[in-house]
Amino acid sequence: MPSAPRRIVTVVGARPHFVKLLPLSRALGRRFEEIVVHTGQHYDYEMSKRFFDELPLPEPARHLGVGSGPHGAQIGAMLARLEQAMLEDRPDVVVVLGDTNSTLAGALAAAKLGVPLAHVEAGVRGRNRREPEEQNRIVCDHLSDLLFVPTADGMTELAREGITRGAHRVGDVMLDALEIAEEKRRDRPSALERLGLEAGRYVLATFHRPANVDEPAMLDRIVDALAAVEETVVFPVHPRTRARLEGSQAGSRLRSSPLIRPIEPVGYLDSLDLVRGARIVATDSGGLQKECYFLGVPCVTADRQTAWMETVRDGWNVLVPPESGRLAEAVRTFRPRGARGRPYGDGRASERIADILGRFLGDA
Ligand code: UD1
Repeated sequence: MPSAPRRIVTVVGARPHFVKLLPLSRALGRRFEEIVVHTGQHYDYEMSKRFFDELPLPEPARHLGVGSGPHGAQIGAMLARLEQAMLEDRPDVVVVLGDTNSTLAGALAAAKLGVPLAHVEAGVRGRNRREPEEQNRIVCDHLSDLLFVPTADGMTELAREGITRGAHRVGDVMLDALEIAEEKRRDRPSALERLGLEAGRYVLATFHRPANVDEPAMLDRIVDALAAVEETVVFPVHPRTRARLEGSQAGSRLRSSPLIRPIEPVGYLDSLDLVRGARIVATDSGGLQKECYFLGVPCVTADRQTAWMETVRDGWNVLVPPESGRLAEAVRTFRPRGARGRPYGDGRASERIADILGRFLGDA
């Protein structure tokens, strides 16, 4: 009698996870029993459910409903509920993705229960330990049994921290996701049509990092910069940013700037349409920096450092911290130089991950 498939619990909860889950679930679902557990870190329709409605994603078997809160409380609540879920589901391996609080809670829950832990997007470092994501990355990597590393830089970072066992350079699952999305994208009207935008004639802007939006002076500088580029700026507003803009000086400046178009957060397919059509992107999102690079769109990153230095080294991304006062000028004048390489692999990272997990679990 064939033995039952090995069971994998994949922990998700925040918007970037759903994109990474797209190729990963496709690859894992072919050979394992995959149970998706959603922490509920993101809960607005636009930040979560829309992704499950629009994309071929497996429905989460559990919704833990944790929601927002101070980081300690949020992680603590997730940890308690994830531990309970894992005790009931009894996975052979727990898979966590990326660097959010849900990722950290999933890693801690698995490690405390002694369940083997696999981290997708391991080895990524932004070299800023004040950033919550950097803290999450470091802890997850040091707890993981299997580390799925997107880039050569990532392998070097892990070696520097003394991690060599279990680390595999597989490529970036976000490149795999893009290829699946391309099939879906063709079947629907472009977001540019719906929004009345002309390709190459607008800037796409997104900002949500606490360091940029939680500090009113920084948020002011960002909105001032967007107003000063003197070109249509399409600005999907993350809920954190929306909350900070409400009733603030930056919020009124935004509303009175005729060329800035704030819109609701968009889904993955629309986001790719908007990146592809943009003349340039201004952002603090790690995922968008990579997507710009994949699609050949120049990017200005509002930060002192990035976890995705390949995009900067190849000349397609430039780091301009908002406090420098040079953000608007960079958006107006930055032009990419140099050819793009393949530092993020070949779009088959998820298949490799499934193969390595299979070997780890002793499957044929
Ligand atoms: C989280 C991740 C970040 C990722 C981002 C993508 C951490 C530490 N950060 O940041 O790495 O790039 O997701 O979006 O995990 N809110 C809503 N509705 C929602 C979700 C959030 O209104 O569905 C609001 C709440 O006011 C909340 C705030 O946004 O307090 C921040 O949400 P939180 O999950 O803490 O972190 P993000 O800023 O989204």
